[in-house]
Amino acid sequence: MRTLVHLSDLHFGRVDYTVVEPLVETVKQVKPDAVAVSGDLTQRARSEQFKEARAFLDRLPQPQIVVPGNHDVPLHNAYARFFQALEKYKRYITDDLEPFYADEEVAILGLNTARSFTIKYGRVNEEQIGAIRARLCPYGDEITKIIVTHHPFDLPEGGDEDELVGRAEIAMQAIAQCGADVLLAGHLHVSHTGHSSARYKIAGHSALVVSAGTATSTRGRGETNSFNVLRIKHPFINVERRSWQPERAQFVPSSTEHFKHTPEGWTRVPDEMAAEIVYTDEKTIAPPTDT
Ligand SMILES: [Fe+2]
Ligand SMILES: [Fe+2]
Repeated sequence: MRTLVHLSDLHFGRVDYTVVEPLVETVKQVKPDAVAVSGDLTQRARSEQFKEARAFLDRLPQPQIVVPGNHDVPLHNAYARFFQALEKYKRYITDDLEPFYADEEVAILGLNTARSFTIKYGRVNEEQIGAIRARLCPYGDEITKIIVTHHPFDLPEGGDEDELVGRAEIAMQAIAQCGADVLLAGHLHVSHTGHSSARYKIAGHSALVVSAGTATSTRGRGETNSFNVLRIKHPFINVERRSWQPERAQFVPSSTEHFKHTPEGWTRVPDEMAAEIVYTDEKTIAPPTDT
């Protein structure tokens, strides 16, 4: 079993500080095997904001798969925007723009979709599509394969199509070919879980598309701050949303959905059957020795 925490859109520079400490504590209590952060770590890509984001990440468990968002590219300084687009991100957060983590149960690849030539939209390029193939195709179906981007591959109902990651159709061919299971993203500041097959018609493949709300910023679009906890035990995945409840000053479970892998992709398990799924590992107890 693997537990993954998915945070997004931290936006240091526009943070509600009352949620930061409880967030750190809650993530530590969850004891994740990995933490994914899907971009917009800062509000305006300023050094002070990156330093705050860095200090925040330093308090969270490792390993971390972090990708930048459009807000991590300087907006107002044209030179910095085009010639030093992710300089500060690389200096303070990570110089690895294609972070990758794999163990016996999961393989997680992060891709940078932020671009200088567009203020808020994003895309994947040929090289990154190559990285999806190189990194994820070698793993078999028993490994849950996850891709982390800032810009999403799907939208909640009524969402603006321009917010989708550019070249998604082409990327989705590689994603399907390699049997990628989960696509984590942010950017919308709205929590949403969907199936890639609703938008991309590829026979025999449907990935779970999970968007996180904003974990810490004051820019929630009608939602309170939230993040996701994914529990993965092949062929099951449980997506739990933890939302900020001001009255309790805590992040509490606000929704949970269970999915099972089938030849067509991930299908939702009805709530009445979900109670029977056991996500915890059975621990092997070592026999006593004579020493
Ligand atoms: Fe954002
Ligand atoms: Fe964004």
